[in-house]
Amino acid sequence: MQRPRRLRKNPVVREMIAETRLAKDMFVYPYFVVPGTNVTKAIDAIPGINHFSTDNLIKDVEKGLRLGVNKIMLFGVGDEKSDDAKSAYDPHSLVPVAVKELKKNFGDDLYIVTDVCVCSYTSHGHCGIMKDDYIQNDLSVELIAKMALNHAEAGADMLAPSDMMDGRVSAIRKKLDGSGFVNTAIMSHATKFASAYYGPFREAADCAPNKGDRKAYQMDFRNGNEALREALLDEAEGADVLMVKPALAYLDVISNLKQNSGLPIACYNVSGEYSMIKAAAEKGWIDEQKVVMETMHAFARAGASIITTYHIRDIVENNWM
Ligand code: PBG
Ligand code: ZN
Repeated sequence: MQRPRRLRKNPVVREMIAETRLAKDMFVYPYFVVPGTNVTKAIDAIPGINHFSTDNLIKDVEKGLRLGVNKIMLFGVGDEKSDDAKSAYDPHSLVPVAVKELKKNFGDDLYIVTDVCVCSYTSHGHCGIMKDDYIQNDLSVELIAKMALNHAEAGADMLAPSDMMDGRVSAIRKKLDGSGFVNTAIMSHATKFASAYYGPFREAADCAPNKGDRKAYQMDFRNGNEALREALLDEAEGADVLMVKPALAYLDVISNLKQNSGLPIACYNVSGEYSMIKAAAEKGWIDEQKVVMETMHAFARAGASIITTYHIRDIVENNWM
């Protein structure tokens, strides 16, 4: 008779044989920066997460740093919108200015990942240039590469293109290398699915498409083989890290990428996944700490070594890890 329970007898032996362990170093915390000064405004649909103006962002990042949250992903909200999304690559726009300020304050103590996508800057809210009701791939890629360079010039450590245009990783890599930014890394949203779990984020980033959906560029959630193909293309194009987004409904994809790529695998535990837990916990239906930690371990068990999540501040503030 086999007795697997032998190794579950008490907490000490359970700790000894645990296959998956989490560390603070694995986590990236998303931030939303808005124009103005002294702005801290709660985002209703993502409880616990705020819109910050750059000055208040700096204060909050400082608090996070003291707790060991030293990697952030930055989204810009509220810049001028236009059909050609020109504020996306304006060096005086929100994100590059915030990056410069953050770097001035924290230097290399803070690792800054920026979201590279134009949907907060286009008048229609799509992640590219629209022509004849279709998002034009190659025109969009040019714009996205310019935006990436703009963030690199401001001092971003890592760029996270989230648009899902074909060929954008190689275009960004070429643009960066051509301007001497050989050490600016790319974490591609390699497999980003057209997902209803982004709902709360669209309120936060003011980037909901005013017409249609994103299915002509983001992936179909029915497709796992295609996800691997997308990821391997990004690897071949020069991505440094491959990200899967969303995370919880896509653990099979995380696991498949881990087994088929030598690159670090990241996942993005998105707004809808976060807000579901928050809402159920608020109602007293689930134990927030236990559910959050079970979820984080599931990402790691599947193969993610980098986890972008809105939960990380709760985790470190309450010592859940
Ligand atoms: C847009 C973008 C989205 C998210 C990150 N970047 C939404 C979308 O594609 O519609 C979602 C993140 C989240 O839900 O937390 N490029
Ligand atoms: Zn976008």
